[in-house]
Amino acid sequence: MSETGGLFSYTVGTIDAGDPIPLHLLPQGCGVGSDGALWLRGQKVSDLAREFGSPLFIYDEEQIRARARELKEHFGGDVAYASKAFLCKAMAKLVADEGLHIDVASGGELSVALSAGFPADRIVMHGNNKSLAELKLAILAGVGRIVIDSFDEIDRLEELVSEKRPVKVWIRVTPGVEAHTHMFVMTGQHDSKFGFGLMSGDAEIALDRLTKSKKLELVGLHAHIGSQIFSLESFVKEVEVLAPFFTSSGLEELNFGGGLGIPYISGEPAVDFKDWAHSLKESARASGIPDTARIMVEPGRSLVGPAAITVYEVGTVKEIEGIRTYVSVDGGMSDNPRPVLYDSGYEVFKVDDVLARRDRRVTIVGKHCESGDILVKDGQLPVSTKVGDYVATPVTGAYGYSMASNYNKVGRPAVLFVNNNGYRLVLRRETVSDMLALDVD
Ligand code: LLP
Repeated sequence: MSETGGLFSYTVGTIDAGDPIPLHLLPQGCGVGSDGALWLRGQKVSDLAREFGSPLFIYDEEQIRARARELKEHFGGDVAYASKAFLCKAMAKLVADEGLHIDVASGGELSVALSAGFPADRIVMHGNNKSLAELKLAILAGVGRIVIDSFDEIDRLEELVSEKRPVKVWIRVTPGVEAHTHMFVMTGQHDSKFGFGLMSGDAEIALDRLTKSKKLELVGLHAHIGSQIFSLESFVKEVEVLAPFFTSSGLEELNFGGGLGIPYISGEPAVDFKDWAHSLKESARASGIPDTARIMVEPGRSLVGPAAITVYEVGTVKEIEGIRTYVSVDGGMSDNPRPVLYDSGYEVFKVDDVLARRDRRVTIVGKHCESGDILVKDGQLPVSTKVGDYVATPVTGAYGYSMASNYNKVGRPAVLFVNNNGYRLVLRRETVSDMLALDVD
């Protein structure tokens, strides 16, 4: 049975609402100890939460590396990690170590990548409104590709770049493909703030202008149709629409963007990198794109999303007889705004009793001063859940920390990387002093 639930359409499986958390939603290195508690690569998760406090993002570093290698295996080196999904210096270093490229979409992301020592020639600079300062920084750093998004940007770059040191650019094309996903994360449709429309003829005009430029060396095209897409058909459509334009352009590089969907809750499907690569490459071939073309992708969510959980401590349990039980945790919309923004679904489970049946229907809410501050609308937890317990939401590795805020002056959580040799703090918790440091009185 297929239903539209929250953000995405998913297939409802046979899982009983009270079943324990499906283990496939947890990071790969997770296991359940003889004590019934969650362990990750030799570390007891509740001990980590006690040591570092909660809320706490915990990433399985080995899983990110394994997924990076898998991407490399299927796409060659032609993968740029979309750093908007999650970025800190440790993450940028990991991406550099694994030999991927990185996509940055602002001067801030670019600066983090550079300060991590990310090789500039493997940086792809995005943005629909890059400022002069951002463009200057990108040019000065010598980024590998600048993805041009508008005619105004061509003007800006023509002013900044010298003929002696031309920069390599791609044109961002809006293919007019509507991916099956939430409207807010759909980007390839004609009515979009991003890129040059194929249907309007703008892409053709940009191609003509850039081919003649002596300062901007046009080497490829880029498109991105949206995010959290499960249907490979949407990607095939993207390829088919771009192929004639790409082929006639005589360019060599074609980046199909990111967007591959991942399962967040029971019953949602998983799409393999292998199948994604296969369908992109096969449809490219079938659409007449020469084998010599460099086919590239730019995944964010599918690389890091499944590799993390967020651990919270339960602070209050409020039962409204016959209506609902609210379980308040010590984070909320500030560390994961996705449920509020997109109505996204998450699972929740008790960290020290992973295999317990989750027979109690609960609404997991945060500590912010808004009724809409909901993390899990229709969650299930064991009946035994009480104040002081640690609970966790899995699949929070993408667009959680990166979209976090310090609303209500609740500091952003700390982030840990756990690997086979131990664990390390990669982002410390934001403190009130950090916030006060911005305050000019
Ligand atoms: N490339 C470009 C140009 C993009 O705009 C994006 C995402 C990606 C690659 C990576 O897409 P991914 O593989 O992560 O789907 N905040 C939303 C997602 C917004 C995605 C924005 N662009 C969410 O939490 O669902």
